[in-house]
Amino acid sequence: MKGIVLAGGAGTRLYPLTIVTSKQLLPVYDKPMIYYPLSTLMMAGIREILIISTPEDTPRIENLLGDGSKFGLELSYAIQEKPEGLAQAFTIGREFIGDEPCAMVLGDNIFYGNGLSKKLDDAREDAKNGKATIFGYYVEDPKRFGIMEFEKDPNNKNALNVKSVEEKPKNPKSNYAIVGLYFYPKGVSSMADDVKPSARGELEITTLNDMYLKEGRLNAQLLGRGFTWMDAGTFDSLRKATEFVSMIEQYQGMTISSPEEIAYHMGWIDEAKLKESIKAYGKSPYGKRLEAVLEGKVVL
Ligand code: G1P
Repeated sequence: MKGIVLAGGAGTRLYPLTIVTSKQLLPVYDKPMIYYPLSTLMMAGIREILIISTPEDTPRIENLLGDGSKFGLELSYAIQEKPEGLAQAFTIGREFIGDEPCAMVLGDNIFYGNGLSKKLDDAREDAKNGKATIFGYYVEDPKRFGIMEFEKDPNNKNALNVKSVEEKPKNPKSNYAIVGLYFYPKGVSSMADDVKPSARGELEITTLNDMYLKEGRLNAQLLGRGFTWMDAGTFDSLRKATEFVSMIEQYQGMTISSPEEIAYHMGWIDEAKLKESIKAYGKSPYGKRLEAVLEGKVVL
């Protein structure tokens, strides 16, 4: 299974913060935003990851993350010349994806919650078996998101039947946003070839999801109570994300969404590699918390 972090966009909603840097490199409390979506893919057990960003930002992100070996990953990079839509990631990533299933996470999406790994495992399994998965999260402002209309499957209390998906609907059919995390079976690049630009001129991920829905190959899972999802693309949501992460980390005394910690607990990096990172992070609280991981004080 392959993974993509789509970290594109000009970030104009965050100007002047993003004039000379990428939105996905801005801090969310103690670490750069992109650490969060990267961690989400890692929690799904995905190690081969393509990062897609703008011509200006790709080298900056590569400067931070490198080839991924410090996280036990194989990272590669590709450029999206213009913000022409999320579905384009799968045509840009065609060679990288090859003949495998692929997950994609948006570079400003933050996920937190106990039990996330199980949901990711299920989505991964379904992708192997030819089905795509989207995730729904209750929101108060459904006009701002992709929205899914669904009903519970009467024969299986854990399953949802998706009835429709719509991008930023004027009259939303539900309050469940489709979050920026998607799992697709093999062949997603050729599906993406058939996505036509929307009225706003973008190759919408929702159009791609609708194609899977029409083929009867779209699953959905809910991120219900006990989960937190945020997209940190506006001043307000960025501030809230920072407050949220600082609260959790201070109350629990543990770091969340640390790629080094996940890699270490997954057995993808050894002690020596973790020590290198701790050294590189110097005296920062992030580095200090990784020390606790190294000392065996924190277990998953
Ligand atoms: C994008 C997607 C939308 C999804 C959202 C999640 O919207 O088009 O379907 O709900 O991400 O973050 P954007 O934030 O690009 O407007």
